[in-house]
Amino acid sequence: MTPSTRTNPPGATGQVPGARALYADAAPVARAIEVIPMPAALGAQVDCGDVRELDDATFAQVHRAWLDHLVLLIRGQRLDDAALLAFGRRFGELAAAAQVHTGQKARSVPEIAVISNVRENGIAIGSLGDGEAVWHSDSGFNEVPPSASLLHSIEIPAQGGDTGFSNMYLACERLPQALRHAVRGRTIKHDRRYTSGGQLREGYLAHQDLRESPGPSHPIIRRHPETGADALYLGRRPHAYVNGLPLDESEALLDELWSYATDPSITWHHQWRVGDILIWDNRCTMHRRDAFDPAARRIMHRTQCKGVPIVEGNGDARHPRAAAVA
Ligand code: SIN
Repeated sequence: MTPSTRTNPPGATGQVPGARALYADAAPVARAIEVIPMPAALGAQVDCGDVRELDDATFAQVHRAWLDHLVLLIRGQRLDDAALLAFGRRFGELAAAAQVHTGQKARSVPEIAVISNVRENGIAIGSLGDGEAVWHSDSGFNEVPPSASLLHSIEIPAQGGDTGFSNMYLACERLPQALRHAVRGRTIKHDRRYTSGGQLREGYLAHQDLRESPGPSHPIIRRHPETGADALYLGRRPHAYVNGLPLDESEALLDELWSYATDPSITWHHQWRVGDILIWDNRCTMHRRDAFDPAARRIMHRTQCKGVPIVEGNGDARHPRAAAVA
C-alpha cells in the first residue's frame, strides 16, 4: 500500500451505502485505506493491508470507519492469538471472555473466546455449537458490556454459519414517537444464564421467574460514548424482562421493540471466508449466526474490548449512517 497524503473527500464519513471512500486525513504519514460501504444499513469492507503492520495514523482511519459504519470486514488476515489480541488492543483495553457453558473446555487464553462446534475427546472446544445463535449484543448480562468484538475465522463450513448484523441506531430512530416516549427511562433486565446458542452457563438454574433472573438492568435507549448518537439496546429476546411491568405487558413491549430491531431492511449478513476479521461495535449493533451442517467444522477466535458504563439516551440523537438510509 503506497503512502498517501490525500484528504477525505467531503462526506467521507457517514457515507451513503454504495459509496467508496479513501480515508487518509489523520496525518500526512497515514497510508491510504479503502473503505467500501456494504449496500446495506450498516457494514463496510476495509482494505488496509496486513493489520499487524498498521501505524497509528492509519489505524485512526480504520477506527473512524468503524464508528461510521458500525461493522468492519477486513479480509485476508492470518492472525495467531497473540496477533489478534494485539490488534484488539488497538480498539481498547481487552476484556476477559464470558464464562464457558456446561460441557465446554476451559479457556487457555482468558481474552480469547473460541466459537466452535468442534469437539475433542467429547469436549466442546468452544461455544455456540452448530445451531442458530439468536439475535443479541455481546455480554449485555454484564454490568459493563464490551465495546468492540473482533471475530477471526480459522475454519469455516462450505455453507451456512453466516453472521448477520442489525443497526441499532436506525432501529431507535424508526421507533414511532409514542413508542420512543414509552420506553424513555425504562430498563431491561438482561438474563445471564444462557448463551445466544441457548446453552446454560455453568452454575445457573434453568427455570426461574424472569423478574428474578440473575443479570443487570440496562436502559432501553443508550447514548454511544464516542459518536454521541442514541441506539436501541435490547440484549437478547429470550428471558428478557422490562422492569416494572406485569410479565404479559413486558412480553408485548419486547415483541414490539424487537420487530424494529430485526427488521430485514436494517440488517446486513456476512458470508465468511477463512482469514476474515469482523469488528463490530457492540454498543449500536446486534448480531446473529445461522446454523450450519453439524458434520462441518467451524472455528472462530474472538476477542473483545472493555466498555464504559452505559449512559441512557433520549432517542433523539441521530447517527449519520442511520440518517443516510432512514
Ligand atoms: C457471536 O455471536 O459472537 C459469534 C457469531 C459467529 O460465530 O458468527
